[in-house]
Parts: sequence; C-alpha cells; structure tokens
Amino acid sequence: MANVIIHHCPSLKLARERKTTITDYSLIKISKFLSCYAKNKRYFIYTHGCQANYRDSEIYKGIFEEIGFKPSNDISRANLILINTCAVRENAENKVFGEIGNLKYLKNKKDVTLVLAGCMAMEEVMVNELIKTFKHVDIILGTHDIAKFPDLLEEHLKTNKRVVEVNSGSGYIHERLPSVRDSSFKAFVNITYGCDKFCTYCIVPYTRGRERSRNPKDIINECRELVKQGYLEITLLGQNVDSYGKDLKKQYSFAKLLDEIAKLKIHRLSFLTSHPYDFSLDIIKVMKKHKNIQPYLHLPLQSGDDKVLKIMGRKYDSKKYLSIIKFARKEMPNLFISTDIIVGFPNESDVQFKNTLKMVKVAQYDGAFTFIYSKRSGTPAAKMVDKISNQTKVKRFKELTRLLNQIIEKNNQKYLNKTFEVLVDSVSKNNPKALTGRMHNNKMINFNGDKKYVGRLVKVKVTSTHIHYLIGEMVK
Ligand code: SAH
Ligand code: SF4
Ligand code: F3S
Repeated sequence: MANVIIHHCPSLKLARERKTTITDYSLIKISKFLSCYAKNKRYFIYTHGCQANYRDSEIYKGIFEEIGFKPSNDISRANLILINTCAVRENAENKVFGEIGNLKYLKNKKDVTLVLAGCMAMEEVMVNELIKTFKHVDIILGTHDIAKFPDLLEEHLKTNKRVVEVNSGSGYIHERLPSVRDSSFKAFVNITYGCDKFCTYCIVPYTRGRERSRNPKDIINECRELVKQGYLEITLLGQNVDSYGKDLKKQYSFAKLLDEIAKLKIHRLSFLTSHPYDFSLDIIKVMKKHKNIQPYLHLPLQSGDDKVLKIMGRKYDSKKYLSIIKFARKEMPNLFISTDIIVGFPNESDVQFKNTLKMVKVAQYDGAFTFIYSKRSGTPAAKMVDKISNQTKVKRFKELTRLLNQIIEKNNQKYLNKTFEVLVDSVSKNNPKALTGRMHNNKMINFNGDKKYVGRLVKVKVTSTHIHYLIGEMVK
C-alpha cells in the first residue's frame, strides 16, 4: 500500500450516525499549480445511477471547468476521466467494473488521471477491492467529498500516489459549488440529500448519508435563477421529497415548498421521489392548484404484501398506499402514476407475490420500474437466509412485467388521436430525423422533426402507442 494515501475509508456504521446539518456557503479555491496543469487538458465523465448522481456530475463538471479543464466528447482525448458510480443493485456495479477494466489501455498510453466517485466509493468492501485489484484508479472519493476534489487531484499529481478520501456520515450541505448543467431547458434541483428511511434492502442511506434538507430560501433562489435563465422545466429531487423540512430548525413542509416554487412561474415543475409513509394529501391539493405542476406522481410500492412491506421497513401497508392512490385519482383523474416494485425479496412466498399482482391491478399504473431483489452487503436484508430460487424470481419478474405491460398499454389508448404539448428532449440515437420528448405528464413520445426543435415546446398528435412511449406527428 506504499503507493496509496488513505485519508479516510468508508464505514457503514458511521454512515448511520446523525450529524448536525451545517450549510457551507464558502467557495472552492483553485491553486495556480492546478490551473497551470489543466491548461489545454480535457475531461470526460461517465454517469451511472439516479438523478442525484446526474446532478453531482454537473457539480463535478463545474469544478473541473473552474480548474481549467475543457470538456471532451471523445474519451481517448481526455486527461481526466471520472466514473460517477451507482451501488443500488449488483448489475450497476458490474457495469462499472467492466468500464474500469476497459480504461486500462488509455492509462498505459498517456497522462490520464482516473477518478472513481459516487455511491460505490461509499461501500467498505468495494473500496478495499478497488484499492487491491484496480491499481490504475488514481483517486477514490466519496459522495460527501466532492468539494475536496481540487486538493485531492493536486495531492495525486504532486506525489504520484493514489489517493482515497471517503468520509461516511457527513452533515454538510455545500451551497456554492460551481456547476455546469447538462441541459439549457431542463434542470434538476436538490431539495434534500441522503435518506433516513433505511429500508432493509437498500444501500442508499449508507451511500448518501442521513437526510439533510436544504434551506427553503436557497432552493427558491436557485429555482428563481433558473426561471430567469429561461429554463422550461424543473424537477425537485430527494430520495424522499415528502419528508422535506423535518430536520430544519423551522419546520417547513414539502407541500409548502412546492407551492412556493410553482408560484415562480416555471413552465413545468415536477418532483421525485415520493414515499407513501410521509406523503401528505396536501401535496395533491397543491398539484391541483397549479397548472404548471406536472400531473405526474412517482409513488414506489416495492411490494403489495403487508408482511413483506413490514420486513422491508417501508412503514406503510397496502391500505395506506391505496388510500393515497384513490384520493389522487379522485382529485386528479388525469394523473400519471408510476411506481417501483421489487420482486424476490428474501423468502417472498407465492401468495405474497400474488398480493403484489393484486395491488398492481387496483393501482392501474401508467408506468413502472421493476427490479429483481439484489443483495447489498451491509444492509439488514443481506443477512436473511433466502430460500427462494433465482429461477422462481425470474419467473415472477416476467409475470409482473407482463401484467404491467398490459395495464400500461391499455392506459396508453386514451392518448390516441389527441394532441399534447411536448417538451423536445433530444434527437433519437437511432434515427437523426426522429425526436424524443415528454408530454405535460412526463409520458415519453417520439415523432419526426428537425433538430432545431430540441429544447422547445411543440404540439404533437398521438398516432400510435408502444408500452414505454407514444408515437406521434408534429402539428404546426
Ligand atoms: N428513494 C427512492 C428510490 C431509491 S432507489 C425510493 O425510496 O423509492 C430506486 C429503486 O431501486 C427503489 O425504489 C427500489 O425499487 C430499487 N431498489 C433499491 N434497492 C434495491 C435492491 N437491493 N434490490 C433491488 N432493487 C432495489
Ligand atoms: Fe432506499 Fe428506502 Fe431511502 Fe428509498 S426510502 S432511498 S428505497 S432506504
Ligand atoms: Fe444509485 Fe446512489 Fe442513486 S446507489 S440510485 S446513484 S443514490
């Protein structure tokens, strides 16, 4: 280990500890040494995982560009490569291992610093493995240590040693880190960091720390600035937006925050993710009140069985979940409701799985993300002895997907031959003449059109449907 400087290594135990939240308004400082080094050098970022990671990558871009690096679309031209990782399921981690392996050839060829950041860096086992097996990774830094990046890079360059800086359980919120947003019309805005729920299968509270709410005035100022810059859409982010404000000195609810931000007159406003335990029906009332809040609710179910929900530590039962869905559908008949479901939680019985199918039938989802349970080392569920075979899990997963697809396809029919406002996201990867965008309720739609429409609002008539998206024609 002589060639590794280890400042701190992650600790799942420390990650569980609650710290007082401290908001840091200081600016980062860049040394002359670093700005000279970065002259004419380029960076490249791989981002995995959820929106929280995408937002963190925008902060990394901000820091890299403040140092003096320029972006590059071509990895072979980059001198600074960052992999921003996700640890939520095993397959996400395997992808990263493949990527790191593939980068070895670049390291041998030229002056490249390879950085591994994000949620995988927060796992004890993973960091040990990375230090031992992937000797070409130069810097490993944790999700709470982004602001220290310039110092770590300088240390690595000056010593030519690998540097590890992963602190678990930070209470800091950095308000003034630079950022370069990926889009000029859609923006993610964090409202909380971390998660306090500790669902027994989930690694996120360990990788992101305890829940910290940003001050309402900081969030509102950020949103106001985005409106001023001409952004058309803001998505408020939190692992559990509904518990926003519970840790603030002066209590402040998510419903109130949503109401305040909607008043700033952003064209479209949405939020991710809602948790049925903390969800307040006031949120639906605020959504109904403001035309600019998207009629879109992502409400993870995880399981439809009360006993499984209890062992998962979700803190709600099927009755509570359905009462939210019923109220929401009654108040907002056109609401788009999507969900997350885990199949094959340890020892999930056939009857328990059937209870999930039953709930899916009642909820009549418009969209869904389904996952096969993945064991996360260090979580309580990882210690459970699981008697269910992988074959059974795959069979159930297919059955659930079939049912969801049927329901979604049936729900899709209501859009046929109607015209909707679409915010155009991008040109399709497979067809340069095709555009892809999102309707008022976040439903994805593809249609032919010129690339000049990217970032603009257009009218599109739905001509046919597909399970995961609609197909339409632009209406002039
Ligand atoms: N905070 C959000 C999202 C967390 S991660 C929430 O609570 O809903 C996104 C989704 O990944 C979760 O909703 C869950 O369905 C899934 N997930 C989390 N841990 C998992 C695991 N160990 N195995 C399989 N899926 C998992
Ligand atoms: Fe994970 Fe549960 Fe927190 Fe969501 S609410 S991030 S599933 S612990
Ligand atoms: Fe993955 Fe971390 Fe997000 S584990 S889902 S990138 S919070």
